[in-house]
Amino acid sequence: MFLLNCVIVFSICVSKILCVDLNRFEVDFQWDVVNYTWATPADYQDALNSKRYIPINNAMCGIKYYKDKIYLAMPRIREGQAVTLGYINVADAKSNPLVTPYPNWDWNNQSSCDNLQSVQSMEISADGIMWVIDGMRIGASAQTNCSTKLFLFDLNRNGELLHKYVFPEEISRSNGGFLNDIVLDREFAYITEASGSDYGLIVYSLARNHAWKVQDASSMLAEPDGSDFIIDGANYHTSTPIDGIALSSILQENPQRVFYCALGGLKLYAVATNVLKNEELCLSGEWLHHLEKIGIKQAQSDGMVFDNWGNLYYGLIPLYGVGTWNVHDSFSKSYIVDENNSTLIWTDSFSFDDKGYLHLLTNNIHKYFDQSFDLSTFEGVKFRISKHFTGANSYLN
Ligand SMILES: *[C@@H]1O[C@H](CO)[C@@H](O)[C@H](O)[C@H]1NC(C)=O
Ligand SMILES: *[C@@H]1O[C@H](CO)[C@@H](O)[C@H](O)[C@H]1NC(C)=O
Ligand SMILES: *[C@@H]1O[C@H](CO)[C@@H](O)[C@H](O)[C@H]1NC(C)=O
Ligand SMILES: *[C@@H]1O[C@H](CO)[C@@H](O)[C@H](O)[C@H]1NC(C)=O
Ligand SMILES: *[C@@H]1O[C@H](CO)[C@@H](O)[C@H](O)[C@H]1NC(C)=O
Repeated sequence: MFLLNCVIVFSICVSKILCVDLNRFEVDFQWDVVNYTWATPADYQDALNSKRYIPINNAMCGIKYYKDKIYLAMPRIREGQAVTLGYINVADAKSNPLVTPYPNWDWNNQSSCDNLQSVQSMEISADGIMWVIDGMRIGASAQTNCSTKLFLFDLNRNGELLHKYVFPEEISRSNGGFLNDIVLDREFAYITEASGSDYGLIVYSLARNHAWKVQDASSMLAEPDGSDFIIDGANYHTSTPIDGIALSSILQENPQRVFYCALGGLKLYAVATNVLKNEELCLSGEWLHHLEKIGIKQAQSDGMVFDNWGNLYYGLIPLYGVGTWNVHDSFSKSYIVDENNSTLIWTDSFSFDDKGYLHLLTNNIHKYFDQSFDLSTFEGVKFRISKHFTGANSYLN
C-alpha cells in the first residue's frame, strides 16, 4: 500500500499519462439503452408489443467479472425490464453491448416463481460458482411477490443450477424484502437485507442450508443526519438502511470481518465472521458486544469491496467518487481515489477481474427508483463500467 501510494505521487510529478493510468477510473463500457441478444426478430417485436420490454426502463445494478464475461444484475425496478440476470463478453463493443440473459431466457421469465424474479446482486467464488440473490420485493410497484431466494449456478457448466434456497418470511419478506448485496466466505454468505420494514444482516450456511439474521437499529438504520444529500443538482432523501457490505481478505486478518453501512448514513461498522457464524450469539443479541464502529466515511456509499491486500473501496455517491482505506490503518487515513462528476454518477457496484483492475458500475439508479422521474427526458449515457488499475485481486483470492 505504502509503495503504491509512492508510485502514484511520483507519477503525478513525472508523467501525467502514467498518473492517469494509475490514478483514475477510465470508462470501459457504456450504455444509452440496455438491449438484449433476442433469439429472433419476432421475439424482439413481441416483447416490445407486449411491453415485456420497454427499452428506456431497463437498468443495471450489479457487476461481477469472471473469466471472459461480465455478469450483470438487473433488478425489475420499472415495468418492462425484460431480463434480470445477464452478461456481456469482455471483448464486446464498448458502446451499447447487447446483454445475453443468463443462464437463459427461460430462467428470466418472470411468470413462474421458480424462475429468477428481480436480482439486485451476486458474487462469484474463485471456482466459478455464482451465488445470486433474487430478492428485490420493495415498493408499491413491486413486480413480484415470490419468496426471496438464493440460487447457486455453476459458470463452468453453462449455468447449471447447483442449489436453491428459499428464504423464510421472517428472514426476508416476499412482499417488502430487499436482498441488496452479498459477500462469500467459503460455505457461508453474508447478505444485507435493506428492507425498510424488516432490515438486517443475514448469515447463510450452505452446509446447514439454513439462514439467520441480526438486526441493530443504531448501526443499520439510516442516520437522521446522513439521509439527505445532493446528486445531479437535486436533493435526494433516502431512508434505505444497511446496504453496502464487504468482507476483509483472509490473507489480511483471521478472523475476517464483515463491514457494512446504511445507504442513508456515513458510519462504517464491522463484526467478525466467527461471531456471525455462531447462530446462538446472533439470536441472543450477544453479537452486538462484538460490533465495532470503524469510522465516518467522506460521504454516503452504496457498493463496497475489499481487495486481497486489505484495501476497502467504497463509492461516495454525492462526491461522484470512490474512497479507499486499508484495514491495517486508522480510518482517518482513508482518502478519495477519484472523483468525476460527468462519469461517476451513482457509484453502485464493484468487481475485480484477474488482471489487477477494479471495475465500477455507475448507473444513475436514483432516477430509476424515483417512479415520478420521466425517463423519456433522460438522454445520453445512463450506465458506465469504469476501470482502475490497482494490481490487487478480489478478497476471495
Ligand atoms: C472524467 O472521466 C472522463 C472519462 O474517463 C475523462 O475523460 C475526464 O477527463 C474526467 N474528468 C475529469 C474532470 O477528470
Ligand atoms: C435491440 O437489439 C436488436 C437485436 O438483438 C435490434 O434488432 C433492435 O433494433 C435493438 N433495439 C434497440 C431499441 O436498440
Ligand atoms: C413465460 O412462461 C409462461 C408460462 O410458462 C409462458 O406462457 C410464456 O410464453 C413465457 N414467456 C416467454 C417470453 O417465453
Ligand atoms: C404484490 O402485493 C402487493 C400488495 O401487497 C400488490 O399491490 C401487488 O400487485 C403484488 N404484485 C404482484 C406482482 O402480484
Ligand atoms: C464538476 O467537476 C468539475 C471539476 O472537477 C468542476 O469544475 C465543476 O464545477 C463540477 N460540476 C458540477 C455540476 O458539479
